[in-house]
Amino acid sequence: MDKKLQNNVAIVTGAAKGIGLAIAERLARDGARLVLADLDEGGLKEASSHLNKEFGAEVASHAGDLSHQSTAEKTINAVPKMRAQAYGRIINLGADSVRNGLWDHAAYNAAKGGVHGLTTGMAREFARDGITVNTVAPCAVNTPQMVAITKSNPALAAKFVSVIPMGRPAEMEEVASMVSYLASAEASFVTGQVISVNGGSTML
Ligand SMILES: NC(=O)c1ccc[n+]([C@@H]2O[C@H](COP(=O)([O-])OP(=O)(O)OC[C@H]3O[C@@H](n4cnc5c(N)ncnc54)[C@H](O)[C@@H]3O)[C@@H](O)[C@H]2O)c1
Repeated sequence: MDKKLQNNVAIVTGAAKGIGLAIAERLARDGARLVLADLDEGGLKEASSHLNKEFGAEVASHAGDLSHQSTAEKTINAVPKMRAQAYGRIINLGADSVRNGLWDHAAYNAAKGGVHGLTTGMAREFARDGITVNTVAPCAVNTPQMVAITKSNPALAAKFVSVIPMGRPAEMEEVASMVSYLASAEASFVTGQVISVNGGSTML
């Protein structure tokens, strides 16, 4: 695989498991040095040693609650550095359910709509600083949690999949692949976008 992020540092939040871990794996394969952040200290240790062993990645990690401003400022405060070097890529995780109004997702969609709005606001703010800001918005993803729901409540899992024309959830790697592209230098003119990775669940 092309080591297109060889000279980059990537901060990945929520990296102890699920989609965050899959993103960290993909960016490690792309050659990035990693800074991982998560609430789950044990999970973070496991993820760090896995990424180092499997991909030879250089990994630093910070355990803490990123909803606390002081923790976020200590661990993931990269924008001033990005501005100073006139280069940066910010990729948020939103949700395709904001667009199709999935069942039982009203509160979740309200929060994710905020992420989408933050994306357009920040993209405009930093557009002249060489910093792009985008959101990847997945439909249901085949995380360990989704696998568990498919076993414990197949009807519910089928309901969420029923809105996806391709008839299956996204694989975590398919979400990570879009993050990898947006994190690369070649995505230089893509900013302020909410890009769905959704098997056609919403179109346009
Ligand atoms: N799983 C899906 O089907 C799906 C679909 C659309 C969007 N998403 C979005 O993708 C992202 C990842 O989803 P996932 O299913 O992999 O999640 P997950 O619950 O499996 O993992 C989330 C990780 O974030 C960490 N975390 C949670 N709150 C934190 C905090 N305050 N500070 C630091 N770390 C914290 C958790 O410890 C965990 O390791 C989320 O933003 C989710 O909303 C997921």
